[in-house]
Amino acid sequence: MRYAFAPMEGITGRALRELHAAWFPGVDCYCLPFLSPTEVHQLTPRQRRELEPGPLGYDRLLPQILTKNPADFLWCAGALAELGYGEVNLNLGCPSGTVVSKGKGAGLLRDAEALDRFLEAVFRDAPIPISVKTRIGLEDPGEFGPILRVLARYPIRALTIHPRTRREMYGGGVHPEAVTLARETLSCPICCNGNLFTRKSVQETETALPWLSGLMLGRGLLADPALVTRCKGGERSRKALLGFHNDLCEAYLGAMHPNQAALPKLKELWMYLCLLFPEDGTWKRMRKCKTWSEFYPLTQTLLKDRPILPEADFARINQSSAVYPGP
Ligand SMILES: Cc1cc2nc3c(=O)[nH]c(=O)nc-3n(C[C@H](O)[C@H](O)[C@H](O)COP(=O)(O)O)c2cc1C
Repeated sequence: MRYAFAPMEGITGRALRELHAAWFPGVDCYCLPFLSPTEVHQLTPRQRRELEPGPLGYDRLLPQILTKNPADFLWCAGALAELGYGEVNLNLGCPSGTVVSKGKGAGLLRDAEALDRFLEAVFRDAPIPISVKTRIGLEDPGEFGPILRVLARYPIRALTIHPRTRREMYGGGVHPEAVTLARETLSCPICCNGNLFTRKSVQETETALPWLSGLMLGRGLLADPALVTRCKGGERSRKALLGFHNDLCEAYLGAMHPNQAALPKLKELWMYLCLLFPEDGTWKRMRKCKTWSEFYPLTQTLLKDRPILPEADFARINQSSAVYPGP
């Protein structure tokens, strides 16, 4: 079974990916948050820096494109191929209102014929193999059948399924039967994503769906960076957690303004990382911090002195709004 770190825009940037890999062995592939190409057809200096392979190398990185325009997709895939990437991922899942209203991300799932035309154009001229990450529809899981029948027409390198509709955002349960339906309809490797928060849920998924080629973990790995290491038989260590966290702080402080940029970024990680510690009101205090110098000592108290839970406590997340109340 291959394990992938899910792309998470604003969170899983280059520093986090590289430090995670250095401190927590086991993740086979790190997916990059989406690139959203414009008609300018030029990578920005910031995008170029994010796309440098660094110690992970091209083989363990998978870049992703979010667009509804075949010409923009093909330009961006070409630029990625030129840099050295051997595969590109198409985003058919982003549920954000502004993205979907423009017909991108999960918005591409609205009309099966339009999706077919888009895929026809991009697969015809793709410079490198294309994999796809998808939701199972916009409003209703029943939409997935027709979507799969369109996907089945193309040589998709691999399909990652987040088995929720766009309406479900990130909350409530997932629809595992949609993953089985994909297996019956497609011949490409299939990777399952969504709510894999504990070693038990990973093991149960592997047992229930032994034909999966991979699992993709997002929030579970933010809350417990050692989750995949543990799934592969390794241990969680406080030293690694502290090392990873403090190296990441150093990287953020070296690259951005402490209070205006580094603090909000670190808070986004802590929305999930706090679930690894018993609820004691610290996260409530952390959320209110306005400066790095108020926030950082609280992180050290948790990381150095508080007990670490056997598994991250995702029951604390409000399942109806799905993503933990933001910083
Ligand atoms: C803050 C945030 C940013 C995300 N950014 C992306 C993205 O850039 N591309 C993408 O395909 N999915 C993105 N996702 C979705 C995740 O990759 C993943 O599918 C989702 O979190 C469900 O998996 P999980 O339950 O393991 O977290 C994002 C999710 C969150 C919460």
